[in-house]
Amino acid sequence: DRQAIIDRISAAPDLGQLDSIRVETLGKSGSITALLKSLGGMDADTRTAEAPKIHALREAVSGAIAERKEALEAAELDRRLATERVDLSLPAPEHPRGSIHPVSQVMDELAEIFADLGFAVAEGPEIEDDWHNFTALNIPETHPARAMHDTFYVAGEQERPMVLRTHTSPVQIRTMQSQQPPIRVIAPGRVYRSDSDATHTPMFHQIEGLVIDRNITMGHLKWTLETFLKAFFEREDIVLRLRPSYFPFTEPSAEVDVGWSMEKGRRVVGGSEGWMEVLGSGMVHPRVIAACGLDPDEWQGFAFGTGVDRLAMLKYGMDDLRAFFDGDLRWMKHYGFRF
Ligand code: PHE
Repeated sequence: DRQAIIDRISAAPDLGQLDSIRVETLGKSGSITALLKSLGGMDADTRTAEAPKIHALREAVSGAIAERKEALEAAELDRRLATERVDLSLPAPEHPRGSIHPVSQVMDELAEIFADLGFAVAEGPEIEDDWHNFTALNIPETHPARAMHDTFYVAGEQERPMVLRTHTSPVQIRTMQSQQPPIRVIAPGRVYRSDSDATHTPMFHQIEGLVIDRNITMGHLKWTLETFLKAFFEREDIVLRLRPSYFPFTEPSAEVDVGWSMEKGRRVVGGSEGWMEVLGSGMVHPRVIAACGLDPDEWQGFAFGTGVDRLAMLKYGMDDLRAFFDGDLRWMKHYGFRF
């Protein structure tokens, strides 16, 4: 019945059900298709009477289907436009990115500061022989400084004992052996000592400085350290105090303190309410210069060494050295190292 079919079409709730109605009526074995086929078996008079009605029925049904299809498609589009709208005011999803570790960042900062002062970067091995780490630095075998360094020994040959370098000072030796003065280098890198608490880790970072030339004095040393510390802490009120000290490889030797003061309940570098030690330094010992094959009557200079991790802690207000090497991303984030 024509009206029943048309009603079903206009009531079809979705495109799937509408298509089932199309198959049922206009499909290969559909009811209207069957009517059209039956025309062939009719006598001429009946056919003339029936054909226009059947064709009209087919037109009406296919027209109704097309109309309903359009309506359903339009409704579907409206629904998608309503629900799939892009909200441009929402924050964009965060894509995690790697970032530089504070220690690497501080090493880069230091290299840049010293590059401006004319220092090149020198390197040496982390597995070092006993001669470069100790003997050439005027620390003979029986010297108590060997015990003080809490050295990690590496299995090696009898004649050439190997250690994990306990400081970056052996790079002084390697540089003087391989370069002609004048020399101006820094040597940043990893060093190792068998020690572990809140302010010591078995691996940490030092930066060494070495200047060898004619007529170098402690005045040059002090100016260099002051200029470097002002640039690193980004403050003009950096005050240094050189305390007489002892290192086997420098003479005279000085430990360098930097003044601190309280700001917003926190101890910061700058001013001079108190002192804290930041560096070891001195004039390179003539025996060290001679051990490298240079004439100590012609060449002299200064050297200094400091802990990079400690400098990072002071600059960024960190309190536990071990956290540097835990790899905890929350810690990085807390100190503003974004990634
Ligand atoms: N190598 C010394 C240390 O590790 C530091 C230092 C370097 C002192 C150069 C004087 C000169 O403690």
